[in-house]
Amino acid sequence: MLAIRLIAEPDRLDVLVLPVRPADSAAGADASAEPVSTAAAPPDDTADEAAALVSAARLNGRAGEIHTQLRPGRTPGRLLLLGIGDGGEAAWRTAGAALARSAANETHITIALPGELTPAAVRGLTEGLLLASYRYRLTEAGDTPTLDGVDLLLDDPATFETTVATARTTAAMTHLARDLTNTPSSTKTPQWFVDQVTSAAADLPDLRLRVRGPAELAAEGFGGILAVGGGSASGPRLVELDWHPADARTHVVLVGKGITFDTGGISIKPVPAMKLMRKDMAGAAAVVAATLGAAALRLPVRITTLAPLAENMVSGSAFRPGDVIRHYGGTTSETTNSDAEGRLVLADALAYAVRQLAPDLLLDLATLTGANAVALGKRTAALYSENDQLAADVLAATEAAGESAWRMPLHNDYAEYLGSDIADLYSAPTQGAGSVLAALYLREFTGELRDRWLHLDMSAPSWADGDQAEVSRGATGWGVRWLLRWLASVD
Ligand code: BES
Ligand code: MN
Ligand code: ZN
Repeated sequence: MLAIRLIAEPDRLDVLVLPVRPADSAAGADASAEPVSTAAAPPDDTADEAAALVSAARLNGRAGEIHTQLRPGRTPGRLLLLGIGDGGEAAWRTAGAALARSAANETHITIALPGELTPAAVRGLTEGLLLASYRYRLTEAGDTPTLDGVDLLLDDPATFETTVATARTTAAMTHLARDLTNTPSSTKTPQWFVDQVTSAAADLPDLRLRVRGPAELAAEGFGGILAVGGGSASGPRLVELDWHPADARTHVVLVGKGITFDTGGISIKPVPAMKLMRKDMAGAAAVVAATLGAAALRLPVRITTLAPLAENMVSGSAFRPGDVIRHYGGTTSETTNSDAEGRLVLADALAYAVRQLAPDLLLDLATLTGANAVALGKRTAALYSENDQLAADVLAATEAAGESAWRMPLHNDYAEYLGSDIADLYSAPTQGAGSVLAALYLREFTGELRDRWLHLDMSAPSWADGDQAEVSRGATGWGVRWLLRWLASVD
């Protein structure tokens, strides 16, 4: 990961970045920008140059605007003017991301920060820089230079060290979730995912990891996970990761869907729909990475994370449409469509959490339905909860983190579609509102925790078709950023 240093005096100046913002007087039609006064005085004539450039280059100072000035033979050799908009956290995040992309072929840059600086601004900038410089490649991309060092020039670097450390952990865990989700499914078997969690957890004290394989799952009655994983040569697993700090007052259980590849099973998906199904474990990746992050930051909240891992394959041992499976705790589902596999594995994990862990709050994250994107487009998760406070807190965290979610209704009158003639529940009703019905199905497994449960259908924002600000093309790591903020606020 890109190395970010906080310094009061520059020790090298290859590329200098100076902030600019919209000018106060810009009430009229002509938006204009002005340089922001920085903590450290810019070297030599760069301040005058920046002042002349904002009007010559017709800058407006909006967040992420960048003007590059070449200065051959002088120091710094390049001057970058960076728009910081209103100077809030989100604007700095956008600016940091734009900078990381535009300076991708520099090796080192120095950013002179404003004299008046909030921790939120530093967090936004740091996360934007780190998140946008993420790349996933399995082969070397050649020998083009890549940005590997950023110095933040400010007064009193010590004041901001914890802010930067938190941002670094948040970005590193988001990168981990992205890596896990981007990994091809030929590599990413359930056991491979377990190995990744095991090695990431090894460095962190007070984390306990328990993994159940097919034999334990069978002995304890996890029928949903076994049915979905039964068609694959790589058997299912259930990860249970427990962060248990001594000072915790609240116990949160996080559940993440971990389908390492979703063919749809016997109800097989057509080619275009199957193309990206290696990402169907993005929920598991997010909850595991957030838990590791919480342990790294030593957040004072107990977190038990459950990741049911299975590969939904087509084979002679695959479960069939019309099979009746018995979940953990005894509820049965008529599995009308083997492509509605996510809810079957989540049902086991939710029922286990309610019966065995009895937490204060229960959250699940899942790439559950294509209907999420139909309802809300490609960047926004669908949030479901009967608890207004919990919903509001999570929405506030997503907003602050720069991730997007929208609350959706749990219509009770649709619950009748879940009725089966031969079992307790019908797993895949076809009446429409697919994301809502999936949520209503999950609600059946929340028992006493029904009003302390929150579900996020994150199939849409788990993946980006192209680079968008701090999100890089491919797996987005959606969930890690807001989870870490929200977990830090739970008490
Ligand atoms: N993994 C898919 C959902 C999905 C679709 C995620 C597109 C990301 C992008 C899920 O297992 C699935 O197949 N859902 C079905 C449910 C249906 C059979 C009730 C769907 O959305 O079509
Ligand atoms: Mn499916
Ligand atoms: Zn799926």
